[in-house]
Amino acid sequence: MQDITVRQMDFQFPDGMDPVVIPGEPEQSYGIVGLSLLLPYLEPYLIRTMKEAKKVVTDPELRADLEKFSAQEGQHYQQHIRFNNVIREWGFPRLEEFENELDADYRRFSETKSLRWNLAYAEGFEAFTTAGARFSFETGGNDGMHPAAADLFAWHLIEEFEHRTVAFDVYAHVCGSYPYRLLVGTYGQWHMGRWIGRVARYMTQQDERMETEYGGVEASKARRRAQLAPMRKHLLPKLLRTYLPSYTPHDIEMTRELKLMAKHYSRMAVRTS
Ligand SMILES: [Fe+2]
Ligand SMILES: [Fe+2]
Repeated sequence: MQDITVRQMDFQFPDGMDPVVIPGEPEQSYGIVGLSLLLPYLEPYLIRTMKEAKKVVTDPELRADLEKFSAQEGQHYQQHIRFNNVIREWGFPRLEEFENELDADYRRFSETKSLRWNLAYAEGFEAFTTAGARFSFETGGNDGMHPAAADLFAWHLIEEFEHRTVAFDVYAHVCGSYPYRLLVGTYGQWHMGRWIGRVARYMTQQDERMETEYGGVEASKARRRAQLAPMRKHLLPKLLRTYLPSYTPHDIEMTRELKLMAKHYSRMAVRTS
């Protein structure tokens, strides 16, 4: 059984909070906001998938992990909805259209795809967030971010890290198969990444400050290049490792620093279980 704590948080996001959550970094900020907008559709889909999986998972410890996994994901998207609603006040009229499309995709996956497919998709996301959490904590990804947004993402990433083995183990328990995990997992990563990219581009284009405050097209290209360098160096190797047949999230240790951070968010929580 994994050490998974469900924390009920009560983050406060001030009215009028700037969607450029990292000052001076609109591209990175809108990427982060795009991810946050994805989660209230993706995470309920993961919970629906786990609910189906529970019918066939016989191992009592794995069943307990699965319940904690779903409880954490349930908390995550509720906090992200609150953040997203504040961002929405800035006025991005096409967001509803993007979100409706995503909602339809995830409903279709739940209704028409096999449990095996949905679990492989889930593990594609979980493998990515585990790699992403390690990258973010290692490189100080939240440094300079608006404190409320920084807490939201750090808390979320810590909990993603805590439940990093669950989707992998449920997939292995229910069906297994490395090539299928690779195939559907990478499709899932592409599916999510494409949506986030489209939303982030749309929001960036809508922000009138791009031409004035943020220096126009050339400055934007330079910032994107600067953003890619640490990703190539620190994120890519972690992500590539998840594509290997030998990959298992059980090999990834929770460092002392991450444990301290987890304790910090447990103290900040309204309730833990
Ligand atoms: Fe989550
Ligand atoms: Fe997760």
